[in-house]
Amino acid sequence: MIDGAHTGPLHFSLLTLFPELLRPFTQEALLGRAVTAGLLKFDLHDLREHAGNRWRKVDDSPYGGGAGMVIRVDVVERALAALPVQPDEIILLTPAGKKFDQKMAEELAEKNHLALVCGRYEGFDARVESLVTREVSVGDYVMMGGEAAAACIVEAVARLRPGVIGDERSWQDDSYSSGLLDYPEYTRPAQWQGQGVPEVLQGGNHAAITRWRRDRALERTLSRRPDLLPSAGLTPHDSAALVDLGVDFGKLAALGAPPPPPVKTKRRKRKPSEPALTIQAPTDGGEQ
Ligand code: ADE
Repeated sequence: MIDGAHTGPLHFSLLTLFPELLRPFTQEALLGRAVTAGLLKFDLHDLREHAGNRWRKVDDSPYGGGAGMVIRVDVVERALAALPVQPDEIILLTPAGKKFDQKMAEELAEKNHLALVCGRYEGFDARVESLVTREVSVGDYVMMGGEAAAACIVEAVARLRPGVIGDERSWQDDSYSSGLLDYPEYTRPAQWQGQGVPEVLQGGNHAAITRWRRDRALERTLSRRPDLLPSAGLTPHDSAALVDLGVDFGKLAALGAPPPPPVKTKRRKRKPSEPALTIQAPTDGGEQ
C-alpha cells in the first residue's frame, strides 16, 4: 500500500498535441470523482502552444531522410519550462521505453507530480531524452500516439493512491500486486448456459475459499504467465499445489519455489501380533 503520507493530491501534467482527447478521460468515473475529492489533479498542455511559429508546427523531417515527421526537441523544452511547477518525474511515452509494469506503477504512485509527454508521428528528436527522467512503453506494440499509453499509466498509478478506489482490499488482491494473476471471480446467476459456479465458493468455509483462490491463481499464472512465478513469493503450500497441477520437482526448483511440505504418512496398520494402543480416559472432567 502507498504509505498514506501524502497530504496533497497526486498531480498529473499531460503534454500532448491532442489535449481534447485526454480531457474527458480525466473527468469521468473514478478519476473524475477523485479530482472532485481532491485526491488527484490533472492539467493538460497543448504542445502546439509552444511551437514557436505562427503555423503552430511542432515537427520537422528527419535528418538523414526517411518517411514521417519528428517532434522537435525545442518545442518539448519550451512546453516543459512553461509548467508552473516543476514535476518530480517527466515521463516520455515511447514504444522504445522501459516496459511499464505494476512495480513501476507503485514507484510512481509515491510521487507528488508526474508529467507525461505524449508523442505522435514518427516520435521525438532523440535529444528529448535529456529533458526527461524516464522513457516508458506500455507494451510491445506501436500505437499512433502516446495518449492511450499516458491513460494506461494514469489508470494504473492513480488507483494506488489511498481513497481513489473504494475498497483497498480490491487492489491488494489484484493480479500483479500478489505477484500472481487474479483468481477467477463469479456472481449470480449460479447457473448460466450450462456453466455453474464452483461449489466451494457457495459454502461458508473461508479457509477453503482462500486456499481455492490461491490455487486457481497459481493455475492461471502457470498456464498463462509462468514467467511471473519465480518472483511471486511462493510458499511450500503453493509448491504442493503446483505439484498437484503437474509441475515436477526439477521445474519447482527452477522456479525458485520452496520444497512442498512433507506429505503426512498414513498410519501403518497394526499387525495382529502388536499390542493395541490404549487411550487414557481424561481424569479432569473431560475436554476444555
Ligand atoms: N506510443 C506509441 N506506442 C507506444 C507504446 N507502446 N508505449 C508508449 N508510447 C507509445
